[in-house]
Amino acid sequence: MKRFLLGTNWKMHKTFQEAEQYAAGLKKLAGQFPQYTYFIIPPYTHLREMKEQLIGTPVMIGAQNMHWEDQGAYTGEISPKWLCDLGIDVAELGHSERRQYYNENDEDLNKKVKAALKYGMTPLLCVGEYAKDKAYAVTPEVIRKQLKIGLFGLTKEQAASIWVAYEPVWAIGESGVPAEPEYVEWVHGIIRGQLTELFGDTGKDIPVLYGGSVNPENCLGLAQRKDVDGLFIGRSAWDLESFEKIMTLLTKNGIGGTRNG
Ligand code: PGA
Repeated sequence: MKRFLLGTNWKMHKTFQEAEQYAAGLKKLAGQFPQYTYFIIPPYTHLREMKEQLIGTPVMIGAQNMHWEDQGAYTGEISPKWLCDLGIDVAELGHSERRQYYNENDEDLNKKVKAALKYGMTPLLCVGEYAKDKAYAVTPEVIRKQLKIGLFGLTKEQAASIWVAYEPVWAIGESGVPAEPEYVEWVHGIIRGQLTELFGDTGKDIPVLYGGSVNPENCLGLAQRKDVDGLFIGRSAWDLESFEKIMTLLTKNGIGGTRNG
């Protein structure tokens, strides 16, 4: 049985000092709500410190991106080997901001997924459609393509170590429109179907998280849906008060410990 996952990507936010305060606070909350598996994805410059501060706690640490090569003439890039040396647990790959502003494509993400696995990190592959895809009703095709290429060539054993996040691009950030739980369940079902087609029974156990304008008001409705194995939260988890509200609500309503559906 998988534990329900609660994680946050900080994007390009938080000073070093803010990060230290956050880690101390989250450590306490993780003790109060021990049924969840937590992960935070700080900027690269904070990774070593965060790893040290949160060692021995149930909080995993992730990187927001990485290159697929061990080393080379790739100015500005980060090697998966270095992340592995730091003890980084999770590699977030293909966030829509990376796809949108830095032209990340499915083929390169496939190389990154394999590199993360090679170095013992959990690849967290993000998939999601644009508003235009949704309007033209091609969401299933878009998601399936992202999964089929992003996870191309993985063995079932490797697939057992991945996580997937569904992050509809139109639902992310300040201008995002929160997704309806019914819609999320529908897409999570499509993701589950594709994972099962690719990896058989192993696909049934791959955690599929939802992300995109999750907040204390809508978290419960989303978390209760079938095939939602965790929440991947941006703004609402950067502030620990609001993150705690989410934890409290989920706990009160019996979310956690085991996955849904
Ligand atoms: P948001 O970010 O919760 O602030 O919309 C989600 C994300 O980018 O993963």
